[in-house]
Amino acid sequence: MFIFAIRNKFESFVMKKQNVIISQNLEESLKKAIDQCPHDRLFILTDETTQTQCWPIISNFACLQEAQHIIIRPTDDHKDLESLAHVWSELGRLGGTRHSLLINLGGGMVTDLGGFAASTFKRGIAYINIPTTLLAMVDASVGGKTGINFNGLKNEIGVFNPASTVILDTEFLKTLDRSNLCSGYAEMLKHGLISNEENWNELLAFDLDHVDYEKLQDMVATSVAIKERVVEEDPFEQGIRKALNLGHTVGHALESLAMKEGRTVLHGYAVAWGLVCELYLSALKTGFPKDKMRQAIYYIKEYYGTFTFTCKEYDQIYELMTHDKKNTSGCINFTLLGQVGDIRINQTAEKEDIFQMLDFYREVMGC
Ligand code: GLY
Repeated sequence: MFIFAIRNKFESFVMKKQNVIISQNLEESLKKAIDQCPHDRLFILTDETTQTQCWPIISNFACLQEAQHIIIRPTDDHKDLESLAHVWSELGRLGGTRHSLLINLGGGMVTDLGGFAASTFKRGIAYINIPTTLLAMVDASVGGKTGINFNGLKNEIGVFNPASTVILDTEFLKTLDRSNLCSGYAEMLKHGLISNEENWNELLAFDLDHVDYEKLQDMVATSVAIKERVVEEDPFEQGIRKALNLGHTVGHALESLAMKEGRTVLHGYAVAWGLVCELYLSALKTGFPKDKMRQAIYYIKEYYGTFTFTCKEYDQIYELMTHDKKNTSGCINFTLLGQVGDIRINQTAEKEDIFQMLDFYREVMGC
């Protein structure tokens, strides 16, 4: 009875369909997106980095001349309650109402936090995402997950609530440094692994040190389409959306460990290392082909290097995994693969398998 009630809680909601535009003309796309959201006041949220590097690209757009600015501190370290409170305060101080509109211009940190601020201010105002990093384009800004880090845990507090429109303009990618490019690319690798051989092989053939931006634009469109298909089928992550967590059960634990130890790790790097671990578990438990696992490891090692830890940290990594949002009844939940595109959600592993996986990671990644 109780389980039935919980299931129906989600079934009775329908998530608004998100409009995702691969833009050829940013000003036109943005004007259209703003016109679709009648508003009394317009706000634009940036962090200190996107305020100096990305705002100048759009600052002369006529549709933005009325916008009031809210600026937060950059990087994932500031995706916290303090920054969120700052956005709420500024929205209030600058006269925001329930009919106001917020534009988030930035990477995943800005779109996640801004999306959450918009979803909760006065019980929710409309927002538009303009992701400026590859990570935000192919993952964070699309699909309606919003939130902040809390208590040392990634994305611990948040809600599902999609942006009215997400505008993707790959022009922003030309100013991205290599590590931010690689970070976003890890989510594209994940989308390739959960889709099909053709996408996966195309991704493995791409040279991240000599980027062909035209090709990347097409690959971004494919990657986002994969994510959109999954989200449309299961917006609230009751089933198949868990496919998008491939690499993340371990990835988030490594990211949280790095955060605790004051080491800087970009999200996509942690996901890439998480993929190494979870492909090993896939080979062990669901028959993922070992040659394909090795291909993936080779690519990841070449472009992402290694995150080092010792066996003394296994218990801590395990403990961090127990906080994963997918877990139920104390079991650590993994998304694994039987093959490229053959998704196996709701897999579990014993502590012994997980420690064996960490041994494998350290051996194969040379740490
Ligand atoms: N980042 C995974 C998801 O949006 O579900």
